[in-house]
Amino acid sequence: MKNCTDRGERGNKMEQKGFTLWFTGLPSSGKSAVADRVAEILKEKGLKVERLDGDIVRKSLTRDLGFSKEDRNENIRRVTFVAKLLTRNGVAVLTSFISPYREIRAQSRDEIGKFIEVYVKCPLEVCIERDVRGMYKKALKGEIKEFTGVSDPYEEPLNPEILLDTDKETLEESAEKVIQNLNDLGYLE
Ligand SMILES: Nc1ncnc2c1ncn2[C@@H]1O[C@H](COP(=O)(O)OP(=O)(O)OP(=O)(O)O)[C@@H](O)[C@H]1O
Ligand SMILES: [Mg+2]
Repeated sequence: MKNCTDRGERGNKMEQKGFTLWFTGLPSSGKSAVADRVAEILKEKGLKVERLDGDIVRKSLTRDLGFSKEDRNENIRRVTFVAKLLTRNGVAVLTSFISPYREIRAQSRDEIGKFIEVYVKCPLEVCIERDVRGMYKKALKGEIKEFTGVSDPYEEPLNPEILLDTDKETLEESAEKVIQNLNDLGYLE
């Protein structure tokens, strides 16, 4: 008798493995810049890619939220929900959020499963010098409350899968380091 599953089966063709690259770090540390570049490289390799960036998400999905600890964590919880759905459907997800609290990052890790934490490390002085959006300047003058690094805490990852020193590496080197690590972790096979 013919096994009817034979026909419908697509075989074990190299299905893309979903994962979430979770970029965390101080404002102006380089999260968005590196995540954008890595996304570009992954797309060139033919992967399905989605970016979830703080700037865009906070104007849409989480526009009702502010910057208290509670709201920051709620922001991350919603992002985690979306990242989880995408990840389990084989998408390469790149999130770029300050995500300053260790505990909520650990919850995202548990929830998403295929979670690769990328600590975008950069000394505060260098971030202040970069001040991509002029926000440090305002925060240092006391014009912005709850600004991470100045008037709000940032809890460094203790054991990230990937560590980028963006004050010592070029953007291209940081992006390449992420790709190399993804490869070593078996996500690009
Ligand atoms: N190795 C590097 N990696 C990433 N960015 C770098 C690097 N070297 C220099 N830069 C520069 O640092 C700046 C980082 O800005 P970016 O917007 O990516 O920061 P961010 O972490 O996303 O900040 P925010 O939390 O405010 O969104 C960019 O202008 C980028 O070109
Ligand atoms: Mg950014």
